[in-house]
Amino acid sequence: MTTQTRVRVRPDQGLQGETFLPGDKSISHRALMLGALAEGTSQIQGFLPAGDTHATLACIEALGVRITRHSPTELSVHGVGLDGLEQAAAPLNCINAGTAIRLLAGILAGQPFPSVLDGSPQLRRRPMRRVTEPLRMMGADIEDTDGHAPLYINNAFLNGITYRLPVASAQIKSCVLLAGLFAEGTTAVIEPGPARDHTERMLRAMGATVENMGETIMLTPPDSLQPLNMMIPGDISSAAFLLVAGAMCADGDFSLRHVGTNPTRTGILDALSQMGTTIQRQATHEEGGEPVADLIVQSGPLRGIDIGGDLVVRMIDEFPVLMVAATQAQGRTSVVGAHELRVKETDRLAVMTAELRKLGANIRETDDGFEISGPQVLHGAVVNGHDDHRVAMSLVVAGLVAMEETLVEDASCIADSFPGFIETLQSLGADVQWVD
Ligand code: S3P
Repeated sequence: MTTQTRVRVRPDQGLQGETFLPGDKSISHRALMLGALAEGTSQIQGFLPAGDTHATLACIEALGVRITRHSPTELSVHGVGLDGLEQAAAPLNCINAGTAIRLLAGILAGQPFPSVLDGSPQLRRRPMRRVTEPLRMMGADIEDTDGHAPLYINNAFLNGITYRLPVASAQIKSCVLLAGLFAEGTTAVIEPGPARDHTERMLRAMGATVENMGETIMLTPPDSLQPLNMMIPGDISSAAFLLVAGAMCADGDFSLRHVGTNPTRTGILDALSQMGTTIQRQATHEEGGEPVADLIVQSGPLRGIDIGGDLVVRMIDEFPVLMVAATQAQGRTSVVGAHELRVKETDRLAVMTAELRKLGANIRETDDGFEISGPQVLHGAVVNGHDDHRVAMSLVVAGLVAMEETLVEDASCIADSFPGFIETLQSLGADVQWVD
């Protein structure tokens, strides 16, 4: 892993070739957590070896679960069963990982021992009442710190509830469902939009009964979970940076192999197709209950589109890089209903607007989205990743279409989700490199 913090990017003509993506981050977190609760050993291939998922791995080990590392991407998780976790000796450090802290809160609320969940200063700024409130409704004894981490959990008896999510969030949904594994009676979650459903799919693959009735998801607490045997697909959210980089260049023609195409995650494919990129899916199949495909990408002139509603939920992590694509599209791109972007690793609407302006972009930032009219000429500049992996990678992609050289500072956070990003771009022909 690199210790360099800056990336130099030079203008590029187009991406060519083919590559595999690192494993899906959301699924990797869940494979560790649910594998830990299984009755027996889960075999995980395609695990994402990145900052966020390593934080979860360390927390799971601290809770008394043995994990054998056959390689960085191949693990055996020696599950201890639903009743087998042990009290951690120290506060659990989720570092920058929002998925780790919110999902672990659900699991730990139902344990017969106390826990403390904490993280980096960045994670401590993110809202946690969205999980402590429903957990308290289930009977959990959980305290947040003015709505933030650290979270202090004591043992309590949980009851199943029916909970209407205030926002379409997979982390809140998963937190409540995971607490439901330890609750008396059925737990139901009503969701206002199609948030990613990896938790539900994985629970079903492990033998639990999780039913969908319209917008309601119902979990019946299982007696036990069967171990997983899974090849985790490539992360479509990581693919998004390459897709946009390819889509913006004049003669992009490349393929991304073995990418997860769960419909709750493929909003970026729909958006880029509407904007004029041709993305074909080949070798489609399912693994561990998750759809997978090879994506064959051919760039074409981009045009602006209007985005709102469910599509926002299905591509929530992809807006930083979509803003870059919008600067290169003919006509206006507008996004509404994406207020959640303000509570990610950074306020991604504000930070991306400010950083892209340094490259000369003209952006109208709104309360819950943005408007960008293009195409715009971007000029090389020094920009900053703000310790937010998706911001840093989006700025690298922006640098590929700028007229002059761009320097992205504070970019080591790229390793939180896509450690080999710069090397992957190089392998597809881009002129990018880590510099001192
Ligand atoms: C995630 C859910 C999303 C997403 C995050 C990962 C998950 O967050 O932005 O990167 O793995 O459940 P929200 O649930 O807060 O929308």
